[in-house]
Amino acid sequence: MLKILSVFGTRPEAIKMAPLIQEIGRTPGLKSLVCVTAQHREMLDQALAVFGVTPDYDMDLMRPAQTLADITSGVLTGLGPILAETSPDLVLVHGDTTTSFAAALAAYYAKIPVGHVEAGLRSHNRYSPFPEEINRVLCDRLSLLHFCPTESNAENLRAEGTEGLVTVTGNTVIDALHMLVRADYSFHSPTLAAFDFSAGRTILLTAHRRENFGAPFEQIFRAVLRLTEAYPDLRFIYPVHRNPAVTKPAYRVLGNRARITLIDPVEADDLHNLMGRCYMVLTDSGGLQEEAPALGKPVLVLRTETERPEAVEMGAVKVVGVEEADIFREASVLLDDSAAYRRMSLAVNPYGDGKASKRICQAISAYFGI
Ligand code: UD1
Ligand code: UDP
Repeated sequence: MLKILSVFGTRPEAIKMAPLIQEIGRTPGLKSLVCVTAQHREMLDQALAVFGVTPDYDMDLMRPAQTLADITSGVLTGLGPILAETSPDLVLVHGDTTTSFAAALAAYYAKIPVGHVEAGLRSHNRYSPFPEEINRVLCDRLSLLHFCPTESNAENLRAEGTEGLVTVTGNTVIDALHMLVRADYSFHSPTLAAFDFSAGRTILLTAHRRENFGAPFEQIFRAVLRLTEAYPDLRFIYPVHRNPAVTKPAYRVLGNRARITLIDPVEADDLHNLMGRCYMVLTDSGGLQEEAPALGKPVLVLRTETERPEAVEMGAVKVVGVEEADIFREASVLLDDSAAYRRMSLAVNPYGDGKASKRICQAISAYFGI
């Protein structure tokens, strides 16, 4: 049996690795082990519970106001003994978090091959997203197997002369969506269960990126206030990330406002089905940029660039920046112009068909000659 240790620590990694972990468990010749760093605690556990993933190892690293150095050093020192105990044939990491970078480095130090899921994304700006751009470059450099969501991700890696296997699989987030979205879905969250989606148009808002801390958050939140004033049928639902750098300004500016619902982070199945019932999405999240086009929901990206240009090229996503006036103007277009709205919502989803996990398992089996 080929022993595969998946190492991850945050909510988006858990959601995107869970379908793959289940698929590894179903694939003859592969054995799955899971180690969570718990760089996130509550938000990670929420995601694990939805998919019924029980970690074999839990490093329980999260601390309030943790620094990047805290996470990096905690993962590096904590993972060594786990790698020694389990001696996996392959370590899998995902995406661009500091957990992923440090886990890939720890595996390299132990001379264990690393597979990178969601490989090859690039913004080509080392400080945006920060520190994710350099994390993902280093993950790719440390890995020998690269599972790319799209062909253009694979092209990025080939252009860098990347060593090892580079293969296009689609994004496992679409596998997760297919597992969780249901027409007859009932929400766990009492607030969402009681929400009347037929009473008007609802916008799903999320924002958590480090580059948006401070002035950009203020601009984004002011645009939200202006939109609710200008459009009486409009409601916002904002599941607020647990980072105090997000919760504090979000509740200060948007708390106790008519037609703006702030809630704690919700389970992935609630979020995906909530997205399915919304008119459109305003977000700085990476995962939401991939999920919303698969559900036919236009996305306005609250950033100045994206490492996910495919859905922008297909017309499903627009990068609108972080200025109040720009966000207000671009959202207004989609609220006022039904043809513009239809064009975005009918654009093709470029991130896969829900079979990425299967392709990754086939590629691993072939690579190791199973
Ligand atoms: C991390 C990732 C980012 C990813 C995001 C997904 C890095 C450097 N950043 O950013 O790439 O987009 O996760 O959400 O890897 N907290 C809680 N409970 C939780 C989670 C977080 O209280 O369940 C609070 C803690 O105070 C923690 C803080 O949020 O110290 C920041 O968490 P951290 O993982 O360092 O950064 P994120 O902004 O979440
Ligand atoms: N998500 C969730 N509950 C929420 C908000 C988001 O389950 O309240 C999911 C979302 O569907 C996506 C992932 O979390 O799969 C995105 O995580 P986040 O935006 O924190 O990180 P990013 O994708 O930007 O790294």
